[in-house]
Amino acid sequence: MRNALARFMPGSRNARDRGRLRWIVNPQPPRNEPSSPLGSLSEPSIRTSIRPTVARIDVDALRRNAQRLRALMKSTVALWAVIKADAYGHGAIRVARALEPVCDGFAVSLAEEGLELRAAGIRSCVLVLGAYYDGQHEEVVARGLTPVVYDVADLYAFSAAGARRGLVATIHLKVETGMNRLGVPLSELHDVLERIEKLPALRLGGLCTHFASADVADDGTTDQAILSFQKCLADARKLGFRELQNHAANSAATIRFPNAHFDAVRPGLALYGAAPSSAVNLDGFEPVLRLSTRIMAIHNVAPGEPVSYGGLWRALRPSRIGTLPIGYADGYPRHVRHAVALVGSRRVPIVGAVCMDMLMLDLTDAPSSNVGDVAVLIGDYASEQITIDDLARWAGTVNYEVLCGISKRVPRI
Ligand SMILES: Cc1ncc(COP(=O)(O)O)c(C=O)c1O
Repeated sequence: MRNALARFMPGSRNARDRGRLRWIVNPQPPRNEPSSPLGSLSEPSIRTSIRPTVARIDVDALRRNAQRLRALMKSTVALWAVIKADAYGHGAIRVARALEPVCDGFAVSLAEEGLELRAAGIRSCVLVLGAYYDGQHEEVVARGLTPVVYDVADLYAFSAAGARRGLVATIHLKVETGMNRLGVPLSELHDVLERIEKLPALRLGGLCTHFASADVADDGTTDQAILSFQKCLADARKLGFRELQNHAANSAATIRFPNAHFDAVRPGLALYGAAPSSAVNLDGFEPVLRLSTRIMAIHNVAPGEPVSYGGLWRALRPSRIGTLPIGYADGYPRHVRHAVALVGSRRVPIVGAVCMDMLMLDLTDAPSSNVGDVAVLIGDYASEQITIDDLARWAGTVNYEVLCGISKRVPRI
């Protein structure tokens, strides 16, 4: 009998992939695995992974990366993991659960991202970095999220929300130090701090800022921003704000600017084992995400025959073309140039336009490859590796965008 699953059998090569295959074929979850709709933490579930396209998240590597960042910090500095945008595509709830024992708190962009963490039982401090819309203030306060505020109107809204709930709302105030995105300008800080002092149900938990250029080789802009931030802290101290937890550093600043650690750091990308730029040394950090699938079809193409939409690629020789069940709807970038996948330990070119659900490989130089063989799009196979930076370069974008772009329909396992 050759059903769709049986077709994956011939190509299963190494133990890890044989293990995964067994689990795909066997619909019974292993004992002691939670019966979450997303499946088990270690292997995909038949309910979500009928298709073999999966992103494997190495939570041990994630924890070790957090420890590596900690090793750069004084023990008094808090580590708040940035897990916005579904933990940069890694799955916010699972990442939060994995990091809760080794981090002091989390930062997200949206109130709804914070609410999702609370609903999943995450009890740590959750800083909400972004904006608050239409009455979210009360829910933010009620769920014990810590909003970062940059707009005076929000100070009043959070104080009112706190008063209605019989609570004191702790907020962090964002100040502008050169990025010109969000933040109270230095010239208005004194006035804003005085307003905060007078608001009955509001407590200032800390001041914060964000660096625009901590990942560029020239330190000048960040040195200037640190000086501006230090001035803000001095102003707050003069007004009597003393118990503040102040923070500024993203991954690049956590690694490159120890003098920007203040009381807490907010790294994101480095936790996931990727560097914000080539100026940031991430030696020793481990990639956390591996994106793989299996070859779904192979066919022979004569010289001159086109492959995929628009015939953008034509065979120059008799070619063996493999099709993978992953496309731009899964977040594999449409506009890659000179991209490869790993089939076995071989780097094989991706040819023709990436489709919504599929893409094609030139397997001519991998003659022993078969339907069902594993193809790695990000990650390693034997001694070969495709990094997130490789894929970002082929797509003409940044590694942040590639990670965030891996879509919801790819199960994280
Ligand atoms: C306000 C803020 N803090 C921290 C971070 C984390 O940055 P990174 O992922 O570069 O460490 C971000 C990410 O964009 C951010 O917007």
